[in-house]
Amino acid sequence: MNDKKVRFLFLRLQKHCPMTAQHSLRVAEIAQQLATTDRERALFHTCGLLHDIGKISIPISLLQKEVALTDTEVMAIRTHTALGRDILHKNSFPQQVVNAAHFHHERCLGNGYPCCLVDIPYEARVIAVADVYAALTENRAYRKAHSLQESISILKIQAEGGGLDPFITQKLISQISEDVQLYLGANAFG
Ligand SMILES: [Fe+2]
Repeated sequence: MNDKKVRFLFLRLQKHCPMTAQHSLRVAEIAQQLATTDRERALFHTCGLLHDIGKISIPISLLQKEVALTDTEVMAIRTHTALGRDILHKNSFPQQVVNAAHFHHERCLGNGYPCCLVDIPYEARVIAVADVYAALTENRAYRKAHSLQESISILKIQAEGGGLDPFITQKLISQISEDVQLYLGANAFG
């Protein structure tokens, strides 16, 4: 994968919407923890960094709007998935990176967007889980960040309800629990 192209596009996102870029960095960090090989780590990191790249084509006034969005505005924001696919395809990114941008809002029961897919590519399911977890643990204009425990409970509900991939979700939850234990252990001895 061409690192220059990744950096170039990520910097464009950072310039257009720093909050989305910050979120994407967290998604990239979380997603790479779900990898099983070095190759997958690099792939998931890139998928995370660029999953919302389509937002560079959405007006910042809309991305930053703090009051409730109209149906038309929601539809406009949802186009970031197809816009992202087009940008990444045009820049010759691997199909998995294109898929992650295009399908990260699809849900396993077929109630996601933009295509209501049931058979969702693996990399898009990984980014969906990382994206939801990152969003839950971040402050938003309309709410404070959820605690770790609340976030884990919400992830479980979304996996059991057929939204998020249950195996990937469980893998992340185990990973988070391990990290917390490590942190507590380090503090206990520190
Ligand atoms: Fe998104």
